[in-house]
Parts: sequence; structure tokens; C-alpha cells
Amino acid sequence: MEPTTTKSVSTALQANLEDYLVLGLQTKHAHWNIVGPRFLEIHEFLDDVYASAQTFADDSAERIRALKSTANGNLDVLVADPLLPAMPTGEIFDADVLSLILHRLELIIEAVRTRLEKVEDADVVSADLIHAQLLALEKHAWMLRSWTVAA
Ligand SMILES: [Fe+2]
Repeated sequence: MEPTTTKSVSTALQANLEDYLVLGLQTKHAHWNIVGPRFLEIHEFLDDVYASAQTFADDSAERIRALKSTANGNLDVLVADPLLPAMPTGEIFDADVLSLILHRLELIIEAVRTRLEKVEDADVVSADLIHAQLLALEKHAWMLRSWTVAA
């Protein structure tokens, strides 16, 4: 791969890494502060989303390293220009948790799909990684959408 190509792929993977790290934090925030009659099932579901976010962050960072670039996990890059708005503080009602996390998943899916367009023709291996992440993210979003409708 040309160095400029490697750089652009690593840049896309770094942006995904940042979004996954923030999604993980926000998912735990919701996991801790949720209240309401559907507490337990949503509390537990949020840990599935958290596990995905953590795995995707780790895989993105390690792919960046495999491309001979470096991953940046510093807090300043996470807060500089965040894709995801901050979560509300205090207790969060279960129906609100569903819509808050769904909204964040939709933002990430859109951003990751846009970045994928740049990676797709440049590096099939990184593109495959992102495909698998989108598959899981869109599955989580589908489940949250279905839950919201059923409420
Ligand atoms: Fe927990």
C-alpha cells in the first residue's frame, strides 16, 4: 500500500476508534443511570453494546498498528470534536435510554459508513473489519428500534 493510502485508511480507523470509545463510555453511563420498569433487561442489553464498542475500539487500534501507524487513545482527541452529544446527567428513564442510545448508534453508523467509502477501494482487510462492525452496530440499532416501537 502507498504511504498516503495507509495514512488515509489509518485516519478513518482512528476516527472510528474515537467514536467507539465514546460509545462505550456513554453506554456504561446509561447502564448505570437507567431507571424504570424495564431497568433490568435494558441494563443488561447495554452491556452487550458496551462489549461491542470495546471490541471494535481494540480491533480498530490494532489494525492501525498493523498498518504501521499509531493509535491515539488520549482523552483530548475524544473531546476535541465529538460526534456524539453528551448524555444527560442524573437518572434516565428507560424509554429515554432507548432513544438516546439508538440516536448515538445511528450517528455512528452513518459516520462509519461514510468513512468506509474511503477505505473500501484502498484496503480490503480494513474494509472487512469495518463491514463486520457495521453488521453488529446495525443489529444493535435494529433491536433498539424494535424495543422502542413495542414500548
Ligand atoms: Fe454493570
